[in-house]
Amino acid sequence: MIRPVILSGGAGTRLWPLSTSGKPKQFHRLMGEESLLQATAERCRGTGFLRPLVATGEEQRFLVLDQLRRIGIAPEAILLEPASRNTAPAIAAAAYWALARDEDEPMLVMPSDHLVGDLRAFRQAVEVAVDAANSGKLLTFGVKPTAPKTGYGYIEAGKRSGGVRQVRRFVEKPSAEVAAQLAADESYYWNSGIFLFRPSAYWRELEKHAPAVAEHTAAAMQTSTAEGLFVRPEIGAFSKSPNISIDYAVMEHSDEILVVPTLFDWSDIGTWDAVHEMFLADERGNVINGDVVAMDVTNSLIRNEADVTVGAIGLDRIVCVVTRDAAFIAPLNRAQEVKQLVDELQSRS
Ligand code: GDD
Ligand code: MG
Repeated sequence: MIRPVILSGGAGTRLWPLSTSGKPKQFHRLMGEESLLQATAERCRGTGFLRPLVATGEEQRFLVLDQLRRIGIAPEAILLEPASRNTAPAIAAAAYWALARDEDEPMLVMPSDHLVGDLRAFRQAVEVAVDAANSGKLLTFGVKPTAPKTGYGYIEAGKRSGGVRQVRRFVEKPSAEVAAQLAADESYYWNSGIFLFRPSAYWRELEKHAPAVAEHTAAAMQTSTAEGLFVRPEIGAFSKSPNISIDYAVMEHSDEILVVPTLFDWSDIGTWDAVHEMFLADERGNVINGDVVAMDVTNSLIRNEADVTVGAIGLDRIVCVVTRDAAFIAPLNRAQEVKQLVDELQSRS
C-alpha cells in the first residue's frame, strides 16, 4: 500500500489576487469543480492507497479538513507545522510520524497545488516507481523541459532499467545560463516535485546529508501533541531545524535517487501565464471565466470572481484577474512580477 503525503504549506503569492495568505492557491478552483487540493487527494484515492497524511500550517487546518470532507476523504492525520521550515522538515515530520507507528509503506509525497492532466498515466508512473521505492530508493518523477525555467529542479538521467532511470545529477534552481543548457539537453528532466520513497529511506538519506533537519524534527515529533486528527510537532525543536527544501537538503546530494520519466501533462501553475498555457483556450486563444464581455480580445486570461461585470476591448496577451477585494492587470509575459507587487502592497499595509 502507498501512503499519500500532501504538502499544503505554500502561499502561492504569484497567483494574487486569487491566492492570498488567508486562502492560498491550493484551496481554489482554477477550472472545473474541484480545488487543487481536492484534485490532489482524488489522484491518490482507491485501490492501493492508504488514507492521506496532510502537512500544513495551523491557520489552514479547517480549510483542509472541510475541503477533504466535502469529497468524502478522511485524512489519516493532519500534521500542523508550528513554523514554516520548508519541505525537508515537513516531509521529515511525516516520515517520523509513519515510522513511529511502525509503518514503512512507501510515501507518495505530492504538492497540493499542481495540475496533473492524465490520471491513468500518473497512476502508471507511480506503479513503476513502487518497486524501486520498496528496495530503498528515492524516486522522482521527471517532466520533459519545454523552456529554460530557473524555478525548477533539473535531473540528469542515466541508464534505464525497466521504467526507471538512474540519476547522475540533480540541480535545484539553476542560473538562467545553466537552465538554458540543461533544458536543451535531451538527458535532462524537470523535477515535478512529486516523490516516492519509504519513510526509512528518506530518514536514512536525511541523516546522511542533512543531520540537523533529522535531529530537530525527531525531537519535535517525540514531544508532539495529538488532538483528534491534528498532530502538532513541538515548536521549540521544530523551529531549530534548518529552513531548507527536500531538493537542496537531500536530492542534490543523495546517490540513491532514481527518476521515472512521465507521460502525463503536468504544471505547477505557479503563475498566471502558466494557468493560461495549461487550460484549453477558446478559438481566439483566450481563457475566460466569470461574467466578462470581451470584444476583439486575443491570447488573454480574464478571470472575474467578483459580483461585477468586467468589460474589455482590444487586448492581446493580457492577464486580468478581478476578485471581491482586488484587481490585477498586466501583460501576460510579466505575470510573474506580481510577487513584487504583493511585496509592495504588504510593505504599505
Ligand atoms: N507542509 C508544507 N510545509 N508544505 C510546504 C512548505 C512547508 O514549509 N513549503 C512548501 N510547501 C509545499 C508547497 O505548497 C508546494 O506544494 C510544495 O511544497 C513545493 O514547494 P514550493 O515552494 O512550491 O517549491 P518550488 O516550486 O520552489 O520548487 C519545488 O517544486 C518544483 C516543481 O514545481 C522543487 O521540488 C523543484 O525541484 C521542482 O522543480
Ligand atoms: Mg512550486
